Amino acid sequence: MKLCMIGTGYVGLVSGVCFSDLGNDVICVDKNFNKINQLKNGKIPIYEPGLEELVLKNYKNKRLSFSTDLKESVKKSDIIFICVGTPTKKGENGADLSQIYNVAKEISTSINKFKIIITKSTVPLTTGDEIEKIISKKNNKKKFSIVSNPEFLREGEAIRDFIYPDRVIIGTNEKKSNRILKNLYQPLISKGAKYINTSRRAAELIKYASNAFLATKITFINEIANLCEKTGINVEDISIGMGLDKRIGGRFLRAGPAYGGSCFPKDTKAIITTADKFKTNLSVIRSVIKSNKNRSSLLLNRVNEILNKKIKNKKITFLGVTFKANTDDMRDSSSQIMIPSLSKKGAIIKYFDPTGQKNEFKKLKNVFYSKTIKEAVEGSDLVIIHTEWNDFKSINFKNLAKSKKFIIYDMRNIYSSDKIQNQGFKYYSVGK
Ligand code: UDX
Repeated sequence: MKLCMIGTGYVGLVSGVCFSDLGNDVICVDKNFNKINQLKNGKIPIYEPGLEELVLKNYKNKRLSFSTDLKESVKKSDIIFICVGTPTKKGENGADLSQIYNVAKEISTSINKFKIIITKSTVPLTTGDEIEKIISKKNNKKKFSIVSNPEFLREGEAIRDFIYPDRVIIGTNEKKSNRILKNLYQPLISKGAKYINTSRRAAELIKYASNAFLATKITFINEIANLCEKTGINVEDISIGMGLDKRIGGRFLRAGPAYGGSCFPKDTKAIITTADKFKTNLSVIRSVIKSNKNRSSLLLNRVNEILNKKIKNKKITFLGVTFKANTDDMRDSSSQIMIPSLSKKGAIIKYFDPTGQKNEFKKLKNVFYSKTIKEAVEGSDLVIIHTEWNDFKSINFKNLAKSKKFIIYDMRNIYSSDKIQNQGFKYYSVGK
């Protein structure tokens, strides 16, 4: 099939490359000329394990191409995926849909034969209805079909998640589009993915409800971890004990810093705004947002206690600053709250991240990037393990701390406290 992905961010690029690997002809379109040029030269604009190999392979065998010409690319394709960003509106909680609607307007002038137009970006309930209105201004309704097909890709695991999804959701009431899309996804269905056909609005809401629920699960265990810390209980025992109940499930019950990333913070806010429009108060999600916002302050209070309320001039190291491992994404990472706050209080911060130095911290006073773990922890008073990169999972702290022993605050519960304490280090973790 001939596909066109509009937007070459995580969603568009990963889905486009994977669709081409399944044997489809895919054009990935972006208005950013530099990005497209880079991609044509085999340079991948994002860090995602396995992506580069797959881009090079499919670009070489000519199933994958890149273009800045949206109109021509749409004309050549049967199925168009809209994969542009839907960030939070400035100063508000709702999603900014201007990129989606601009793309819809452009598509509307390029419909030369029947097209299925799909929103893969996360879009609020009723966005499909709006896109349909925009496109019908210039086209007969028989010439196109607007479908919602949300993605559930995790950064760092995006290719695996694309190839082995738990489910494929197709939101449309039109039989023809449903048949064509079931056919497109058949290779994944054959490998065990469940194919679900719903109304378009239901598909839009499934995405938001899923992300809001996962954010709730994390926030729930984070609050239980707070109670564990005060009562001498290990939160990991609670996660295991709860997770074995099949109705609950063990995943997304890892206590840690505030959840971050490009989806959970943005989508929880957007679903509340959408619900408000329909005069529905999503009070649970509202408190999840509040609790998550408060989480970084709670962890900072613990840092303050660990350092006996003396932060000024203390040398603090951050191992990992991204919102999770296997990504270079800094969006809504809790390190962006914690590092500036500690720097303001007079701490001297060094950080190491496997994905390199971060622009976000370049202008901060007394915040320095270190090229190695060794350099980062040298002379430190407190080492904070902020992100669960594999690189941090078997550090020989004894070897690294030859001249001076530092305190370790493991915000991801990577290490066993007995083991580290036996090596003579003061060790703190989350929910223990
Ligand atoms: C998420 C959804 O998982 C995905 O389905 C959706 O399409 C996009 O948003 P992503 O943002 O890549 O994916 O990251 P995810 O692995 O879900 O983690 C999000 C945040 O939750 C991270 O900050 C992570 O550290 C945190 N988290 C996750 C926890 O703190 N505990 C957990 O048990 C799981």
